[in-house]
Amino acid sequence: MVPSTGHNKTKTAVFISGTGSNLKSLIKFSRTSKSPISINLIISNNSKAKGLNYAKTYKIKKKVFSFKNKNISEKKLLSILKTNDIDLICLAGFMKILSGNFITKFKGKILNIHPSLLPNYKGLNTHKRVLNNKEKYSGCTVHFVNARLDSGKIILQKKVKISKNETEASLGKRILAQEHRLYPKAILKIFNL
Ligand code: GRF
Repeated sequence: MVPSTGHNKTKTAVFISGTGSNLKSLIKFSRTSKSPISINLIISNNSKAKGLNYAKTYKIKKKVFSFKNKNISEKKLLSILKTNDIDLICLAGFMKILSGNFITKFKGKILNIHPSLLPNYKGLNTHKRVLNNKEKYSGCTVHFVNARLDSGKIILQKKVKISKNETEASLGKRILAQEHRLYPKAILKIFNL
């Protein structure tokens, strides 16, 4: 990614469906001087997403699209992204799959965070599957989004050692804490910072 010219940061939209703890960490990062991005828009498919409250706390514009009709929602979404000059999209716990058409329009400009060491454990319930398979390590991955689920080019990963008596909840919590650090680092990396 090429940073915006002048003093402007690259305008970024974060897409969420739930708690939004990664959104919060991205907002905090975006407000530091070293950040090449600003968060200008929060998008959700779920009007009850807890993370939408950060829009108010941090005075950021938010918009909800049902995605019941993906085609219609994506058309409206593309138009709002355009009016807001959005040049980077960060998916953070966004539970809808974007169409190939949408992804093409933002080629190389959509990132996602996934709670496993990709290419292993794509999809849902990663911690449960990792523990069932008695893995020694898990972790998290920030990657570019392409048309195939959890399959785009990997930007950064962080390994987490699985401890004795690990539960889905304990592993999820420890990995999430690492996610909050990894996403900002991955953004610095794609801007060559
Ligand atoms: C994170 O574990 C993320 O990796 C996954 O969904 C979860 C979202 O958590 N894609 P939060 O909404 O950011 O707290």
